[in-house]
Amino acid sequence: METQRVTKTRTPGRARRFRVSVMWKALRRRIIEAATRDKIDKSHSHRMQLNHTRNAKCEFARLCDLYGTDKGELEREGQPYASQAHSYNDLYTLLFRQKREAISLVVECGLGSNNPKVPFNMGVNGKPGASLRVWRDYFPRARIVGVDIDPGILFSEERIDTYQCDQTSAASISDFAEKAGIGPRSVDIIVDDGFHKFEAGRSFFEGMIDYLADDGVYIVEDIQQPDRVRYQRHFAALGEQYVFTLADLHRPGCKLGDNSVAIIWRNL
Ligand SMILES: C[S@@+](CC[C@H](N)C(=O)[O-])C[C@H]1O[C@@H](n2cnc3c(N)ncnc32)[C@H](O)[C@@H]1O
Repeated sequence: METQRVTKTRTPGRARRFRVSVMWKALRRRIIEAATRDKIDKSHSHRMQLNHTRNAKCEFARLCDLYGTDKGELEREGQPYASQAHSYNDLYTLLFRQKREAISLVVECGLGSNNPKVPFNMGVNGKPGASLRVWRDYFPRARIVGVDIDPGILFSEERIDTYQCDQTSAASISDFAEKAGIGPRSVDIIVDDGFHKFEAGRSFFEGMIDYLADDGVYIVEDIQQPDRVRYQRHFAALGEQYVFTLADLHRPGCKLGDNSVAIIWRNL
């Protein structure tokens, strides 16, 4: 009895506060998810549910493992990033597997900086350029252009060239596009995997949309929970100019978190 009492009185208050704070954060995240889910459900007239099993031979995920991007993975072991990868490989396979030979130009914002001082970096073990190499191998005829705010990670190699650009600046976007020689309506796929906040996403979209080919696809990765409704409302306000789809990718053992992607194309 004595021992029990001693143990109880010695339970550190800090540990208890920590446990309560972890539980509170988890609860808060669930409430936010449920609330935004509810708003999204109300604001979209249609939902599409695709059920599938994991493809252990997914070529896109194999390339992600090979180069070290978190867009997908087959093997958790040996990855340079701390958390479980997104499962965007499943979506991209669905969207692009039959266009692999036809895609000629891909632009991605966000090379994957390994500088911990840069926002949305991939950690010190990150592999800058990993996703550009995935696109290059997946689309054997395509030129891949990458942009990033971090000038320390720019590089060029076979069919890949990269430029510095701050996606929150219209001038910086048009400057890189000119340097890269990107013509109007010429890009097949534009991917925003840079600064994952709505304002930055809108800025890059506005700066890049004139470069998207008529049958091109514009993708915004990692749509965070509070931004979901903002994106949805933004594109709803643009009327029938664009087709806007928000894809939620669910995978076992992971909360939805930032495993959501916006897919946009011109409504011609
Ligand atoms: C999540 S990482 C990109 C990961 C990479 N696409 C991959 O799949 O391996 C996000 C990148 O956005 C870049 N970034 C952050 N703010 C930016 C901005 N304002 N303009 C352009 N890039 C930015 C960071 O330097 C970082 O490299």
